[in-house]
Order: sequence, then structure tokens, then C-alpha cells
Amino acid sequence: MSSHCCLPLFFSNFCATAGQQLQACRYSVLFLTTMVKVTYCETGTSELCSAGPLHAQCKVEWYFSLPCRSVYEALVAQIKKWRTVSTCATGGEKCLYKLQSASVHFISAKHTTPVKKYVDDINFRLVSYGFFTHCHVSAMSVSETWYAVTDHGTNYCNLYNLMEGSGLTEAPGYKEITSDFLCTQRSSANCTVY
Ligand SMILES: *[C@@H]1O[C@H](CO)[C@@H](O)[C@H](O)[C@H]1NC(C)=O
Repeated sequence: MSSHCCLPLFFSNFCATAGQQLQACRYSVLFLTTMVKVTYCETGTSELCSAGPLHAQCKVEWYFSLPCRSVYEALVAQIKKWRTVSTCATGGEKCLYKLQSASVHFISAKHTTPVKKYVDDINFRLVSYGFFTHCHVSAMSVSETWYAVTDHGTNYCNLYNLMEGSGLTEAPGYKEITSDFLCTQRSSANCTVY
């Protein structure tokens, strides 16, 4: 099964036949899926409700007992290290990151999945606290594919893999705050695969 499956595929075929009204079709579908989701979630527990955000995306808060400059340098170095497809030679998705812009306050990048070529936009906002000895990172990953509803935790892994690869998950004071509500399929994510 693809990592952006079924429901989205149906809608993508549906809208492809709509020709020049494609944009209007997309909005209608987005509206429709929102209504379906709201209705389902009001009437009980369905799989659709537990799927988290409507669009495949992920938001994570991280905290470190490190200056933001150290966090910034570690993340940018890791994004550059996983630039080419070669680091995915044995599988996984720890490759094809592309740095878009970087400052000590804000890092923006893209991640492309090696097989399906789905593009996700990721960013990290870094804010110092405790007189510059600590850093709070607000991270976000969003699938560019407008109809992606499920992602097998890909958006979470896009962010987490950089944290782990750079060694930041072992850094002093490391703390992560997120949930299935904030991140599509977070609890079932296997970042070795995705
Ligand atoms: C994640 O996937 C890998 C590779 O298929 C597997 O070896 C590992 O056991 C999985 N981890 C979890 C927690 O399911």
C-alpha cells in the first residue's frame, strides 16, 4: 500500500476528470472531507477520527538545555548530510532533504520521499530562553500533496529523523511534546522505515 493511500487516490482521479475546474474541485473535496470528518467524529469513534489532522502534517515542540546556536548548527549539518539519495541506499527515508533557508531563528527545508517522490515542507523555529542557555524548537512538517490525509507518520519522521541523526535526542534536557492529534499517525510511526 502507498504511504498516501486510498481516499486521496480516489479524489485525485475524481478531480483529474474535472479539467479546468480542477482548483474548484479540490476545494469542494477538501470541504467535503472536512464535513465527513466532522460528522463522523460527532457520531462516534471511527478510524477517520483517530487519524489526527485532516491534512497529513505534524507539529512537535522540542526543548533542550543547549544554546539555540548549537541546535541550529546540528540540524543544518544533518540536513546537508542527508542531501542526496545515497543515504537511503539501504531503505528508509533519511535522504533527499533540501535546505531552503537557514538562520539561527528559523530553518526551512524540503523532504522528498525516495520512492514516491512526495514532497513535504518542514521548518524549525528556534527560540532561546533561560538567558540563552536553553532552546525551544517548534517544528512543523506538512505534505505538499493537498489530498494527503494519511502518511504512516512520515511527517513526524521527517522531523524526528533529523533530531535523532544529529544526536540531539541525546542532548541535555531533551524533551519532546507532540501527540496523534498534532501529528498524523504519530503513535504508529516507525521512523526506521518512514
Ligand atoms: C520498524 O521497522 C523495522 C524494519 O522493518 C523493523 O526491524 C523494526 O522492528 C520496526 N520497529 C518497530 C518499533 O516496529
